[in-house]
Amino acid sequence: MRHFIPYTTVFLIALTWLAVGCAGLSVQNTAAPPPTLEEDRLAAPPMPPNPTQADLGSHVYYQVCMACHGDRGQGLTDEWREVWNEDANCWQSECHGNDHPPEGFSFPQTCCAAVLGPGTLTQFRDGQALFEYLVETMPWWNPGYMPVEEFWQLTNFMMRENGVIPDGVTLNAGNAVAFNLHPVTPLPEDTTWQVLVIVGMLTSIAALLAFQKNSSIG
Ligand code: HEC
Repeated sequence: MRHFIPYTTVFLIALTWLAVGCAGLSVQNTAAPPPTLEEDRLAAPPMPPNPTQADLGSHVYYQVCMACHGDRGQGLTDEWREVWNEDANCWQSECHGNDHPPEGFSFPQTCCAAVLGPGTLTQFRDGQALFEYLVETMPWWNPGYMPVEEFWQLTNFMMRENGVIPDGVTLNAGNAVAFNLHPVTPLPEDTTWQVLVIVGMLTSIAALLAFQKNSSIG
């Protein structure tokens, strides 16, 4: 009987901190749902009758960038390469490896980064920085061959997908610097953490007191 309360104490403390840990994990889990197989992954994006600059950008992305950076901007993942069936291995002989055909081009095996959605484009400060990078470096095989307007459309589209620009805004050299790619967002008003930590501490103290009382009796 003497050991009953210490074991309960240990159990209670472990249980409390397990709850705290689980709450922490559930807060972090914000990944986008995986794509469903039924969708036609290579279909053009829908275009509204009066497209915004970002809508137009989604089309440029589809035509020029998607092959390397993915239909959801996920990057050249294994899963995205599978969609190309027999061309899934981009670096096999005669494709985009070093022995590519004369009219073709090669690209690195580490290619290509995710470019759409939260957590991407972290190296760019604002719309202007992203625009300048695209004009100077993309598309990979022929940088800057497209009209400047299409680069603005792309910049707007990518920033919209990142949730950092309201729909309908038209980006240009005069305002792009004002749209920050990494705005400081206030922490969500979620107090679950604090409550659990306090409950955990109180339980630990109560259990320790009970343990002390028990051992002094014994
Ligand atoms: C032939 C493949 C290819 C195409 C097409 C292509 N890119 Fe890239 N892209 C690359 C490579 C290679 C890099 C540099 C290294 C990497 O991302 O792995 C890169 C990097 C980028 C980056 C920087 C990502 C980061 O966070 O470092 C952005 C943004 C980007 N591309 C946007 C575009 C856009 C927009 C288009 C369409 C106009 C495009 N790319 C077309 C291959 C490509």
